[in-house]
Amino acid sequence: MTAKHLTDTTTLNNGVKMPWFGLGVWQTKAGDEVENAVTYALNAGYRHIDTAAAYQNEEGVGNAVRKSGIPRNELFITTKLWNADQGYDTALRAFEASNKRLGLEYVDLYLIHWPVKGKYKDSWKALEKLYKDGVVRAIGVSNFHIHHLEDLLADAEIVPAVNQVECHPLLTQTELRTFCADHKIQFEAWSPLMQGHLDNEVLVNIAKKYNKTPAQVVLRWDLQHGIVTIPKSIRESRIIENAQVFDFELSTDDMHAIDALNENRRFGADPDNFNF
Ligand SMILES: NC(=O)c1ccc[n+]([C@@H]2O[C@H](COP(=O)([O-])OP(=O)(O)OC[C@H]3O[C@@H](n4cnc5c(N)ncnc54)[C@H](OP(=O)(O)O)[C@@H]3O)[C@@H](O)[C@H]2O)c1
Repeated sequence: MTAKHLTDTTTLNNGVKMPWFGLGVWQTKAGDEVENAVTYALNAGYRHIDTAAAYQNEEGVGNAVRKSGIPRNELFITTKLWNADQGYDTALRAFEASNKRLGLEYVDLYLIHWPVKGKYKDSWKALEKLYKDGVVRAIGVSNFHIHHLEDLLADAEIVPAVNQVECHPLLTQTELRTFCADHKIQFEAWSPLMQGHLDNEVLVNIAKKYNKTPAQVVLRWDLQHGIVTIPKSIRESRIIENAQVFDFELSTDDMHAIDALNENRRFGADPDNFNF
């Protein structure tokens, strides 16, 4: 069940296949920086890129993908609806703008970026329309706690295919992962590498044992837990390093030791308390 290759996929609740492993491009600058990062990743065999309107680098993602010459149907591109654009009509317009900036015909996965109070249900109706119109292959949410999902599911026609949230060894999200699994919502981790805070003694020691890096250990832990993961780097060497996680297996004891690092610690905002 654990992914064996960089291109291995999970099957979403609508049958669409999504690679378990992708490149994140938050804080990757528009222009050369993002085009290079995406190119390094595609050359290394990645087929899944995670961007957002808010990252302001969708054009660069699209440019690099087109230049790669890789057939569109072998790629999986996620982008997200920004908070200021939430609402029904505004979401439809925002999608059109993102799709145009990407220039890749369609989007594989479109996510509501954050659960903006009083608006996310209207936004979801817009995403349902986009899905029915066939311009997105799957729709989902991001930064939804269990109570947000319960609220959305009470009215939704379509169950979100994915929930992308902050998750890593210091924030293991066990309850949310169980809820998502029970509702056939694929769980996806953002900031899987704790935004580079990898100097944890337990992780360093486990990494030594397998002759791997702490980053590789954390990404392998994601895969063995059935978590889609999207580490970010702008450096070719790290983009390659991060994907070398299909040639070893963490023991049950080591999985438990990493699980036990949980402190419910966030590097990003709490979805119950954000002001953007
Ligand atoms: N939905 C949301 O609200 C949301 C929020 C945050 C992030 N995301 C998505 O999740 C992706 C990943 O999260 P993230 O960008 O916050 O952080 P991350 O992937 O946890 O960590 C990225 C940081 O770690 C460094 N790094 C990468 N590989 C490394 C390695 N092998 N060894 C040591 N350091 C390494 C990177 O530096 P260099 O680049 O200098 O290598 C960067 O500073 C984002 O890019 C974005 O696509 C989504």
